[in-house]
Parts: sequence; structure tokens; C-alpha cells
Amino acid sequence: MRKRKNKRVAAGNNKGGTGKSGWVANVAAALADEGCTVLVVDVDPQANVSRRLGRPYRKEEPLVTTAEVIKSGEVGAAADGIVPCGWSGIYAERIHIIPSRFDLENRISEAAVIGSRGRLARALEGVDDDYDFTLFDCQPSLGHLTQLALAAARWGVALVEPEYDGVEGAVRFRDFIASEVNRKEMGNLDLAFAAAIPSMVDGRLAGHAHHLTSLPGIFGESRVWESIPRRSVIKDAADEAQPLADQGSRGNEMREVYKTAALRMIKEFA
Ligand SMILES: Nc1ncnc2c1ncn2[C@@H]1O[C@H](COP(=O)(O)OP(=O)(O)O)[C@@H](O)[C@H]1O
Ligand SMILES: [Mg+2]
Repeated sequence: MRKRKNKRVAAGNNKGGTGKSGWVANVAAALADEGCTVLVVDVDPQANVSRRLGRPYRKEEPLVTTAEVIKSGEVGAAADGIVPCGWSGIYAERIHIIPSRFDLENRISEAAVIGSRGRLARALEGVDDDYDFTLFDCQPSLGHLTQLALAAARWGVALVEPEYDGVEGAVRFRDFIASEVNRKEMGNLDLAFAAAIPSMVDGRLAGHAHHLTSLPGIFGESRVWESIPRRSVIKDAADEAQPLADQGSRGNEMREVYKTAALRMIKEFA
């Protein structure tokens, strides 16, 4: 089945540390557990999701990264950057990645060149049709690198830490996408904001409970997805660059959480 752009999802927030990369890595695993194939495109020069998925950049074994794929900007160029993720078993089969590295920063200075914003969209043309999902891990900015991802994506989802700054950053991401002027500039009128996903939620904090109740009024009830709680097992899996499945029974609760998100993605996007 050819699915084209419809399953391309960009995870963003104009604030850092809200759980974007954690969500991309863990929801990719949950989608793989459901039998889906996933292409992760790391569009953050910090390359956190590349490392967590077992594909850190090593000078001794250089990989083609998003930096080179975007620099080329030719139709289909993304194919040169795809590698299986570094996890074992079904994850390596079903989760592929175009990793990132710090050199991706160099693409920002090219933003004024005509056609530059469409480079990633062009590079992916015809490349990700057969994946069930393509997930873009964005940096905490609405600048050129995030615009490259949004020019290619069908949906934007915000990871919303329920604190003042986390909500504001998500609102800026949502509003950026909602602007028809921006979507025209990016050559992508089909792009839509799909979900505000409460993230890093700490049930002990009154402030979090307060901000959670405000989200349906801000984003619309149907766009507020199930919350992702804050749990230390997520940090441990991230540090070890391993899937949650490798954390044994400690990972079960969070695997269920990401499974719920994966099922919702399959229902709403596929
Ligand atoms: N649900 C979670 N529970 C606990 N820690 C998390 C969770 N999601 C992410 N983290 C951790 O919090 C930090 C910031 O999350 P990260 O996903 O890197 O955010 P972002 O990509 O938005 O900057 C990282 O150390 C990450 O491992
Ligand atoms: Mg990140």
C-alpha cells in the first residue's frame, strides 16, 4: 500500500526539553511493536534521537546524515541517508533512521536561497512511500530546520510539558502551522496541527494538574491526546540507547502509554 505524505508526522515545541525526542524514539518502538514500519528523520543538530536509536555519529564510520540529504535537496536524495536503527531484532527491521549530526547547523545559513525550504520534502519524494509512518524530530525552534520538516510533513504534533513555558512553546508551534501565510511559504497547504500531547507529566505537581485542565480550552478537546507521564525508566532507556523493551518489567507501564499513542496514530493518520 502506498501511503505517501499522509503519515508524515513532525514532533515539535518552541521550547526544549519537553519530551519530543523521547516521544519519537518510544512511539517509533510502539509502532514497530504493532507491526508498522517507521522512518525517523532527525532534524535536530543535537542528534539526540539518533543516539538514542543507536545511531550516534562516529568520525571513524561516517554516515550520510540529514545535513547531507538537505544539502543535496535533490528528489530522492533521502534514500542515501537511510540506515536501520541500532536496536536489535524487529526494531532494526521496522525502524529506519536518517540520523543527524552537528553539521546540520550549517544548513541554517542557506535559508535565504530560493527553494531552500523545500529541500527535505524534495529529498523524501518517492523515498518514504512504503513506510507506515515518517517521524520528524524537530529542534526547539520555529526556524529554518523546523520549517524544512514542516514543509515535508502532513501533521504537526506538539509535546506539551504542562508548565507555563511548555504550553506557550506548544501554542507557538500550533500557531505557526495554523498560519496560512506560513504554510504557503513552505509550499505545504496540507499541513495541519493534529495533537497536543501532554508530556513529562508529574502527577505529584499541582501546577501540572492545573495546566492539564487548561489544554482542551487552548487546543480543542479532540486534539489533546492521552498524557505521557514522567518516569525514570524513560531516562534510563535513553541513556542506554535501548528500547524500553530491554528494561524488562520496569518498562511495562510506559510501553502501554506509548502503545496507546501508537494506536491513536494508526487510527487518525494511517
Ligand atoms: N516521559 C518521560 N519521563 C521522564 N523523562 C523523560 C520523558 N521523556 C523524555 N524524558 C527525558 O527528559 C529529557 C528531555 O527529553 P527530550 O525527549 O530529550 O526532550 P526534547 O527533545 O523536547 O528536548 C531527556 O533526558 C529525556 O530522556
Ligand atoms: Mg529533542
